[in-house]
Amino acid sequence: MSQQNIQSSLHEMRQFTPSAQFIETASMTPQKLAQLYEQAEMDNVAFWAQQARDEIDWQQPFTTTLDDSNAPFFRWFPDGTLNASYNCLDRQLKNNAHKTAIIFEGEPGDIEHISYQELHKRVCKFANALKSHNVTKGDRVIIYMPMIAQAVIAMQACARIGAIHSVVFGGFSSESLKDRIEDTAAKIVITADGGHRGGKIIELKATTDAALEMGCDTVETVIVYKRTGHSINMKSGRDIWWSEAEKDLPEQCEPEWVDATHPLFLLYTSGSTGKPKGIQHSTGGYLLNAITTMRWVFDIQDSDVFWCTADVGWITGHTYVAYGPLATGATMVIYEGVPTVPDAGRFWDICQRQNVTIFYTAPTAIRALMKAGDEIPNKYDLSKLRILGTVGEPINPEAWMWYYDVIGKQRCPIVDTWWQTETGAHMIAPVPAATMTKPGSCTRALPGIDAAVVNDDGVEITHPDQGGYLVMRKPWPSMIQTVWGDDDRYISTYWPMFNGKYYLAGDSARRDADGYFWIMGRIDDVLNVSGHRLGTMEIESALVAHPRVAEAAVVGKPHDVKGESVFSFVVLKGDRPEGGVDNDLTQELRAWVGEKIGAIAKPDEIRYADNLPKTRSGKIMRRLLRTIAQDQEITQDTSTLENESIIPQLQGKA
Ligand code: PRX
Repeated sequence: MSQQNIQSSLHEMRQFTPSAQFIETASMTPQKLAQLYEQAEMDNVAFWAQQARDEIDWQQPFTTTLDDSNAPFFRWFPDGTLNASYNCLDRQLKNNAHKTAIIFEGEPGDIEHISYQELHKRVCKFANALKSHNVTKGDRVIIYMPMIAQAVIAMQACARIGAIHSVVFGGFSSESLKDRIEDTAAKIVITADGGHRGGKIIELKATTDAALEMGCDTVETVIVYKRTGHSINMKSGRDIWWSEAEKDLPEQCEPEWVDATHPLFLLYTSGSTGKPKGIQHSTGGYLLNAITTMRWVFDIQDSDVFWCTADVGWITGHTYVAYGPLATGATMVIYEGVPTVPDAGRFWDICQRQNVTIFYTAPTAIRALMKAGDEIPNKYDLSKLRILGTVGEPINPEAWMWYYDVIGKQRCPIVDTWWQTETGAHMIAPVPAATMTKPGSCTRALPGIDAAVVNDDGVEITHPDQGGYLVMRKPWPSMIQTVWGDDDRYISTYWPMFNGKYYLAGDSARRDADGYFWIMGRIDDVLNVSGHRLGTMEIESALVAHPRVAEAAVVGKPHDVKGESVFSFVVLKGDRPEGGVDNDLTQELRAWVGEKIGAIAKPDEIRYADNLPKTRSGKIMRRLLRTIAQDQEITQDTSTLENESIIPQLQGKA
């Protein structure tokens, strides 16, 4: 990691304040926020203890707030017990039983409203189905589902019985699914006969079958939800339809009370080296920050219709679909498909029809919809919207302004939320009624969150606009607990610097003269493609697993919709193709990576060379490769290369 990589070039001077009308109707007022900051400032641990008492229904109240005796394995509320599903569902039954919890819309257009009471029944019934298939507290359950209400029901059912879910995004391949099943040693897989996406059916069951054929000996049962009705194979003795599994079972299921530190879920995410890491989250601390951020950043109110477009396969779909909205008694929209079916007006059509008030999506979607032109959103009545959110990657000021002007009609504050799979919930984000916003900045750390930008020595950078490492100097409730089965990797990845004092986010950032945070990008070899994290190493290992590939290097190249595209350089076993072109092989390698990891990881471009550029010590010169991928002038010293003639090959000129 070098300071030279951390240079800031962005200068954005525009500022936006919430309207008087917005402030008047906001629940999280500037005064309340100021109070929260003050309390957190005075005593951070006492502050979180108070929040935890106010926001969570404990079965057994905690007496210890934070056990830091075995840092960095921080344990929040260690002697408290609770149940996440109870906090999401049962406590809404008193006053909100008939309130709509979920408005589901399928890509083909089918719509279903599910009340809290109904959701509670369905979760209980399915929890009983899991129990009757031998799933007990602490068992791991893989969920590989389309973006339908049953995905949330499955997650809540696991939480209800203390089983640990691990959701695998439906776009991942059978090999990626197999790796996750094996790493978790799951007993059971919950999937569907398929899902609707982009006008096609995604074959989740067929992919599950392929994964299970490769190993996964721990899996005893596969529960299959019938979504599309198209024909699939059911293996007798192993596979059972969802409706069969829960047939005749009761609609009540006593929640299993678990310790606050009991794992609620594992979610795999890419790192710079090795295979994906199973990020382990707790129950109590995680749920607390899911709730506090719903209140602070989304200002959630009883009348709101909340829509987070993220898939449950990502952390955003955990915190702001499966848990946060339900734990705050909100009504939320779940949409199965892509934003462009039947046309690029689908999101705005749903906002209009369902009276969405809070809309949360990713910059890549905003950029794609912006490209489709203003006429499309202008056809819809978006006047119910009051807050617009973004997450997943830095949002470029142009996209921010378009979101603000064309979607929000300059009425809706934009909340640019910085956080990670590991942080569990928003960390740096505006509070809409209180924070002045600047396009491209995620603004300030939330109450109780001690974010800072530091240099190589761990010293805080106070000079405005100087880049450094983004760190957290204090633990927070929803923080990662460990990497599943690999405590050493947890320590070496997240606490490598400054004597393990600070949590290292892996992003570079700067703060401006107002103290606002601006995220500049990753400091490790992680790509951010359409808001999804991909390790360059993962794609490289997939490429070299192909029989014709000897060596591969992958770098990111800026892309105007996806944020970054995957650019790869490949050395073949045997001769380089004539003129560096072999379209058939390129297609084959792209499909190969798609099979190994998933379609999102397919290289957008592949260039063939005789060798890869390396330093004397044998390290691939990635900065040089990035320069080349971006078609920029080479300023690095290439004289040390053994074979300088590879440069034109890498540039695609020979
Ligand atoms: O680089 C940051 C970027 O996404 C990374 C986390 O990725 P993941 O764990 O997949 O979670 C994405 C959804 C929370 C971060 O390290 N990132 C996330 N949000 C922002 C962001 N970069 C800039 N601005 C954001 N608002």
